[in-house]
Amino acid sequence: MYLAGLFLFITRPIAVSAQVQTGYIDDEYGDPRTSLVPLYSGPGSGTFDWLQAANFSSQFVAAYGDGFDVQRAFNQTWHWTEFFRLDNLRTVTFSFTGTSLNVYCILPNPVTSPSNVTNEFNRDAPVISNYNLTFTLDKFPVNQSFMHTSDGSGQFQYNFSVLSLSGLPQTQHTFVMSALTGTNSTILFDYATYE
Ligand SMILES: *[C@@H]1O[C@H](CO)[C@@H](O)[C@H](O)[C@H]1NC(C)=O
Ligand SMILES: *[C@@H]1O[C@H](CO)[C@@H](O)[C@H](O)[C@H]1NC(C)=O
Ligand SMILES: *[C@@H]1O[C@H](CO)[C@@H](O)[C@H](O)[C@H]1NC(C)=O
Ligand SMILES: *[C@@H]1O[C@H](CO)[C@@H](O)[C@H](O)[C@H]1NC(C)=O
Ligand SMILES: *[C@@H]1O[C@H](CO)[C@@H](O)[C@H](O)[C@H]1NC(C)=O
Ligand SMILES: *[C@@H]1O[C@H](CO)[C@@H](O)[C@H](O)[C@H]1NC(C)=O
Ligand SMILES: *[C@@H]1O[C@H](CO)[C@@H](O)[C@H](O)[C@H]1NC(C)=O
Repeated sequence: MYLAGLFLFITRPIAVSAQVQTGYIDDEYGDPRTSLVPLYSGPGSGTFDWLQAANFSSQFVAAYGDGFDVQRAFNQTWHWTEFFRLDNLRTVTFSFTGTSLNVYCILPNPVTSPSNVTNEFNRDAPVISNYNLTFTLDKFPVNQSFMHTSDGSGQFQYNFSVLSLSGLPQTQHTFVMSALTGTNSTILFDYATYE
């Protein structure tokens, strides 16, 4: 006990200056440090551009199948969009100050071929379960993309890191995640962390 206390006392000033706390940015509640919340577009901001999926659970289940565990979504919220090839661009934008970034999404793996499922809003288009994402940081393209197609298992993959960046300069950064123009892509954005 005594030794542990002494150790803490001696190392504490160093630990405080070197320790980096992980920050997080929830899709809905944003970053508690800065009180900023992510921005979502569609330029048209149409009804179907982005949904807080926690409020559309029946449509969500209709789209991707049963067995979604809300408790496994960070803060029990996640933003949902389905980008059809010819729609307005869909983006998630947020800022953070740090040297690394991880972005987490939920991946749907519907059993049925999505193109056979009627779109949950009766749009004249099939449900999209593919991911096809591109990213920019401080307006420059990030040399990574993310793709996923259903593995047919019927199991959602939670807490899936779609992008991991490190070694960034310790300044404020602006990050944008986009559904790739010219293809169909869903995005189930859950949260991001930075250090
Ligand atoms: C769901 O909708 C209600 C009513 O609009 C709102 O108060 C609530 O914050 C929403 N829930 C989430 C997780 O966005
Ligand atoms: C979101 O989750 C974090 C980490 O578990 C927690 O500290 C925070 O209070 C949660 N925020 C809300 C609004 O639930
Ligand atoms: C992409 O979406 C369009 C509707 O905008 C649809 O006609 C097309 O079949 C979709 N393509 C794929 C591969 O799902
Ligand atoms: C999708 O529909 C086509 C045409 O009706 C059918 O041949 C195919 O087996 C279906 N695929 C799945 C995975 O249900
Ligand atoms: C993603 O987009 C690229 C470029 O259009 C295309 O070649 C690829 O097949 C797409 N992948 C998925 C999973 O939709
Ligand atoms: C992007 O990544 C590819 C594959 O890892 C690599 O060959 C290429 O040199 C990279 N380009 C830049 C500009 O970093
Ligand atoms: C999510 O993934 C990250 C990185 O792999 C991990 O540190 C974290 O504990 C995971 N969270 C949950 C709730 O599984």
